[in-house]
Amino acid sequence: MRIREIEVRGLARLAPMAGISNAPFRQLARECGSGMTTSEEIDAISLVRGSEVAREIARFYPEERPLAMQLLGSDAGLLVRAAEELQEAGADIIDLNMGCPMPKITKQGKGAALMRDVPAAAELLRELRRAIRVPFTVKIRGGWDDEHLNAVEVARMAEDEGVDAIVVHPRTRSQRFSGMAPWEIIRDVVEAVRIPVTGNGDVTSMADARAMVAGTGCASVMIGRGALGRPWVFDESFDARPREEQWQYRAQVIRRHIELIREHFAENERYALNQARKHLGWYVEGGLPGCNAAKAGVHQSHSMDEALHAFWTWWEQVTPAVLERDAAVA
Ligand SMILES: Cc1cc2nc3c(=O)[nH]c(=O)nc-3n(C[C@H](O)[C@H](O)[C@H](O)COP(=O)(O)O)c2cc1C
Repeated sequence: MRIREIEVRGLARLAPMAGISNAPFRQLARECGSGMTTSEEIDAISLVRGSEVAREIARFYPEERPLAMQLLGSDAGLLVRAAEELQEAGADIIDLNMGCPMPKITKQGKGAALMRDVPAAAELLRELRRAIRVPFTVKIRGGWDDEHLNAVEVARMAEDEGVDAIVVHPRTRSQRFSGMAPWEIIRDVVEAVRIPVTGNGDVTSMADARAMVAGTGCASVMIGRGALGRPWVFDESFDARPREEQWQYRAQVIRRHIELIREHFAENERYALNQARKHLGWYVEGGLPGCNAAKAGVHQSHSMDEALHAFWTWWEQVTPAVLERDAAVA
């Protein structure tokens, strides 16, 4: 897929997830095969005011490029200033979050609330389009609620305002994460616009990603929750590898992730530990012997060494059982 001059390789790519899609996880996903990634949402006001947190979220590895950076906001002036700042910092694409369903965000008119007033959103996109040199994309939902399913209307408006590509997560704001994402809304958007459309929602494997492309005609797929504890989901060759090799590959990916977390958050040990605990917990595969105790051990750890010890002790204990299981399946 191409977004203007930018080639987005691969069928699937990591979705923006607040507190998760930071530089280490994005870089890891890229190394596993994800196409271009998108930063987690960056609040425009915080960035413009020089907040340390916003600047930290905006940090990336040069080798991640091309990289899309996502802005959250509703005030045109602030969004323009924030977009200019991100552009200067090296963002290859600026994405606007028009889908966040969290009440604390929508109450401020941000995220999915932007889909409620289409003429006002059109004005906002026009101002942003005038200021943004690089490709400009939006990420939308199916609509505000079941009575206001206006993804097609919003997508057409975005195309008319010069937006270069769209991501559609077809649940409504009121559905949050419940039920299955209605993929037919993605197909309706694909049929309504000429710019590339990326589909998103409930994809947990490359087979699902191919099914989404076949069923909707979308140009690429974004995977969010399906990549938690499984960044190898982006590796097209993973399923075809011998099962024993898959387990070893997983260990390598997990080690690499911890290395990236330690290096990127070297100045902030607490945050590094918080990230390591969260991801190591997800890397503990449910259903395997000792998984609950291992997760608890990881989450209750007070240092990186303790967290790693809890995780790898479990990993080594469970490896013979996994290899036996995999040999039986093979
Ligand atoms: C913890 C979490 C944080 C998220 N943060 C963002 C965000 O910052 N920006 C955004 O556009 N979407 C965000 N999303 C939505 C995801 O990008 C994606 O649209 C949604 O999870 C559906 O895809 P999935 O079924 O593959 O998870 C978030 C989702 C989760 C679970």
